[in-house]
Amino acid sequence: MKAVALKTYLPINNPDSLLDVTLDKPVPTGRDLLVAVDAISVNPVDTKVRAPKDKVESEYRVLGWDAVGRVVATGPEATLFKVGDEVYYAGSIARAGSNSEFQLVDERIVGHKPTTLSNAQAAALPLTAITAWEGLFDRLLIPQSTQASKSKPKTLLIIGGAGGVGSIAIQLAKTLTNVTVIATASRAESAQWCRSLGADVVIDHRKSLQEQLTAQGINAVDYIFCLNNTDQHWVAMSEAIKPQGHICSIVELRGQVDLNLLKNKSVTFTWELMFTRSLFEADDMIEQHHLLNRVADLIDSGKIITTLNQVLSPINASNLRQVHAQIESGTTIGKIVLEKWQ
Ligand SMILES: NC(=O)c1ccc[n+]([C@@H]2O[C@H](COP(=O)([O-])OP(=O)(O)OC[C@H]3O[C@@H](n4cnc5c(N)ncnc54)[C@H](OP(=O)(O)O)[C@@H]3O)[C@@H](O)[C@H]2O)c1
Repeated sequence: MKAVALKTYLPINNPDSLLDVTLDKPVPTGRDLLVAVDAISVNPVDTKVRAPKDKVESEYRVLGWDAVGRVVATGPEATLFKVGDEVYYAGSIARAGSNSEFQLVDERIVGHKPTTLSNAQAAALPLTAITAWEGLFDRLLIPQSTQASKSKPKTLLIIGGAGGVGSIAIQLAKTLTNVTVIATASRAESAQWCRSLGADVVIDHRKSLQEQLTAQGINAVDYIFCLNNTDQHWVAMSEAIKPQGHICSIVELRGQVDLNLLKNKSVTFTWELMFTRSLFEADDMIEQHHLLNRVADLIDSGKIITTLNQVLSPINASNLRQVHAQIESGTTIGKIVLEKWQ
């Protein structure tokens, strides 16, 4: 089967950083599905895993953690899907990725592809939707609207609103909760993108967050979802969060921060990593199957839309290198997808 893979970890402008290769087609066992991959998306995790280092792999390593495809075979213990089903999923960071014609994935982290979307439109969603869903509902514990209807409206600050995760987080928060969504964006086009997805207020993460919130009549926020540069925003988040508020970050720290800044306000800080459930084979791993199906229902009922912004074809090393370079620039709006094998 065709695949894009690496053995060495090189800067993306080096043509050897991602290579077109031919690999053996894998065989499903246990609860695995064998999926024929039709479209993939690229996330910052791809560029972080590919980042230059001295390590050399003995076997080709396939990256890629977002796919849409068709089930072509199932392991003997798989019960949730059958051959021919159209699926979408992010997969596991501990296994070979989706940049290959065929991929094995545990059915408990796979959802049925939204029926109203093209392959490319659907491939934009899984990794970021899982992250946003788990961040908002499993970590920040924001009540969904049915539970919250009688409570006082609350405020959610999403730092990095126009990126892949922000684009779906804004929509899930606006559709499923009663919170007022304040998103950050630093350019006219990214600010407009956030507004188009439903953000109530947009402020600039390159200026003082507190001053801009105060100017909007918002002295402090109940929830903060930090989707970019946790180090840079740490002090500002500690200022902007309400007493007893909740902060969730999805971006690893590069240095050290002062956790004491959150003590007087009794603020809850939590991490979200969307690979946790699959990496540790958590007992509730199947929650990702359920949430991907919920997201597909929201799409198919017209409540939320795809975050796709750009499509390249075919899926090959040259196009993937181009998309990695774009992601590394830190200026991507929405999602970039690659589709079809040549
Ligand atoms: N823990 C997890 O499970 C998980 C899952 C997914 C992603 N992540 C991580 O989350 C981060 C975001 O992922 P993504 O897919 O949303 O990335 P992305 O699509 O590449 O994000 C691009 C956006 O980031 C914004 N941005 C750039 N610098 C910023 C800054 N200093 N502060 C705030 N926003 C800034 C830009 O907005 P402007 O152009 O308006 O500045 C741009 O629209 C990455 O580090 C990724 O590895 C973690």
